[in-house]
Amino acid sequence: MAGLLAFAATTGIAQAQDKAPLYNVVDGYKVDADTMKGFRTWRAAACDRCHGANQEGMVGPSLIASLKTLTKEEFITTVKMGRLEKGMQSFGNSPQVMDNIDQLYAYLKGRSDGAITRAKVEEIK
Ligand code: HEC
Repeated sequence: MAGLLAFAATTGIAQAQDKAPLYNVVDGYKVDADTMKGFRTWRAAACDRCHGANQEGMVGPSLIASLKTLTKEEFITTVKMGRLEKGMQSFGNSPQVMDNIDQLYAYLKGRSDGAITRAKVEEIK
């Protein structure tokens, strides 16, 4: 555990509630395989159409700002159910999104935390 924390401190890993880190990022843009999957999901679902290529907001709000306060549960509910009357579409019928919701959250949380410093990431080799 001490070793893991030391590793976390040097690479900027955010600790999730359980022991597993939420995401792992090096140099601000090299991420672990799951976080990479989250980025691919973001791209595939084209969330950027409304939230902007850099998550900083367009029609939809800045997710960089939102995820500082939104809980993971609230995030999942919003993506799953949408807020149809307010223009946020629902992705509950999209296996592509729902099967990767944890990874998508990890990627966006990393962006919101400022640990992932640019939207386009690469997988750690
Ligand atoms: C068609 C446009 C559109 C698309 C596509 C879209 N969103 Fe949204 N989203 C919105 C709008 C508009 C809101 C603001 C709703 C409101 O006012 O409560 C929103 C709100 C949200 C919120 C809540 C923010 C907050 O502060 O409460 C989250 C989280 C979110 N979107 C994530 C996503 C993700 C992840 C995707 C892709 C899987 C996505 N959105 C795709 C338009 C969109």
